[in-house]
Amino acid sequence: MKSATSRVVLLLSVAGSANALDWVKAGNDSKSMCAGVETVCSNAASCTRVAFGPCGGVASPEFYLQQEVQGFALIMANDSAYMTNFSELSASVIANNTYRAIDGDLTLGDATYARITAGQYVGGDPSVSGGYIGMASYLLKNGTISTNVNDFLVPDGPELSTTKTKSACISELDTATSTCGAALTYKTGDFKFSLFGFTTGSSFVLPNGVTYLGIRTKLTKKNFPADVEVTFNGKAKKLDGSTAIGTSDVTSVELAGTSRSLTINFPQKYNVGSIGDDGEASTPTATKDVKIKVAAVDGDADSIYVDYLFDAADLQAAGKYFVYDPTVSEVATVSTATASTTKNAVISEAALARPALLALGMGVAAALLHQP
Ligand SMILES: *[C@@H]1O[C@H](CO)[C@@H](O)[C@H](O)[C@H]1NC(C)=O
Ligand SMILES: *[C@@H]1O[C@H](CO)[C@@H](O)[C@H](O)[C@H]1NC(C)=O
Ligand SMILES: *[C@@H]1O[C@H](CO)[C@@H](O)[C@H](O)[C@H]1NC(C)=O
Ligand SMILES: *[C@@H]1O[C@H](CO)[C@@H](O)[C@H](O)[C@H]1NC(C)=O
Ligand SMILES: *[C@@H]1O[C@H](CO)[C@@H](O)[C@H](O)[C@H]1NC(C)=O
Repeated sequence: MKSATSRVVLLLSVAGSANALDWVKAGNDSKSMCAGVETVCSNAASCTRVAFGPCGGVASPEFYLQQEVQGFALIMANDSAYMTNFSELSASVIANNTYRAIDGDLTLGDATYARITAGQYVGGDPSVSGGYIGMASYLLKNGTISTNVNDFLVPDGPELSTTKTKSACISELDTATSTCGAALTYKTGDFKFSLFGFTTGSSFVLPNGVTYLGIRTKLTKKNFPADVEVTFNGKAKKLDGSTAIGTSDVTSVELAGTSRSLTINFPQKYNVGSIGDDGEASTPTATKDVKIKVAAVDGDADSIYVDYLFDAADLQAAGKYFVYDPTVSEVATVSTATASTTKNAVISEAALARPALLALGMGVAAALLHQP
């Protein structure tokens, strides 16, 4: 994991030269949002790496956040003690196990969006017992999209190089009617990402004692002013000190400085269900509470790990899926005070719906989760 760091720095030194990072711009005014993805990638971290930040009036952002999937783990402890008992879930060593698609110009109705989606099989032999884990990011470049489903890139099977796009319900289950809930609306400049996965194999079995499937992502601030402080849960908590968040659930991350600030809200719900014989994700069987935790990154003060824990109880057989698709629950304002102008960018981190947004990358994975 650490070995990827220098590469990140190299590829993403945006302010100067942004050679290997392709930026897509959403909007064409002072509230524009840009998202970027690496054109060439080599592992889960780099293939899932997505950068996003405000870029009103300019071609690429002066400061931005970078997000990537670091790895996966089977957790054998409660969510307070998860850092002490887990086993890393390695990427399957099988042919063609790196799936990524980048689309800069997708349309839905009048709207245009960019999407990056990536994924990877995990486990020793996913045709016997394993899973597929992926991530999708979207940037809505222009227009408005209303939808209650999101599209994911899914391989046709282990070792196969071909993929299909499958959609899954990302709105909360309407328990009265057992149908996918109301459409969510996304607008120009909205950026969102999704995590999804499903179990595979002819004899799928989770090891005894597994309580959660964990996905570790890393969030890094790039070129932010030095005064920007990272806090959690409405500024009530910090990474360490007397108000340390520890293993408490995280509902939001705030990056606040004197002239710039940004908030990401994490919705607390995700959907689970079954993959049908046709390979499609059926209507969710339940909407559940996700557990989101943060942890410091050794030797890297600009980054934090954001860990997502999904209940293993729903993943006890092959053909079970989960989808975490943060809904835009809040808009964060980033203000950049420059010599004579003030630029504002709206960033919505949410899950996205089907088509929608820019995509950037998805991820894949390689595997390694938790280093305590
Ligand atoms: C964005 O705005 C500039 C300046 O107003 C204009 O010249 C350009 O055509 C616009 N681009 C798009 C894609 O609308
Ligand atoms: C979680 O597990 C740890 C270690 O087994 C234990 O000390 C702690 O009491 C547990 N917490 C809860 C809330 O069950
Ligand atoms: C954005 O969408 C609006 C409304 O559909 C359209 O008028 C405008 O030309 C579009 N702008 C770009 C840059 O595509
Ligand atoms: C991997 O994909 C390639 C096509 O890109 C295909 O020729 C090859 O057969 C695949 N490998 C296996 C083991 O199926
Ligand atoms: C981890 O959890 C498993 C299953 O509950 C248990 O058997 C094992 O002793 C635990 N290991 C540690 C180091 O706590």
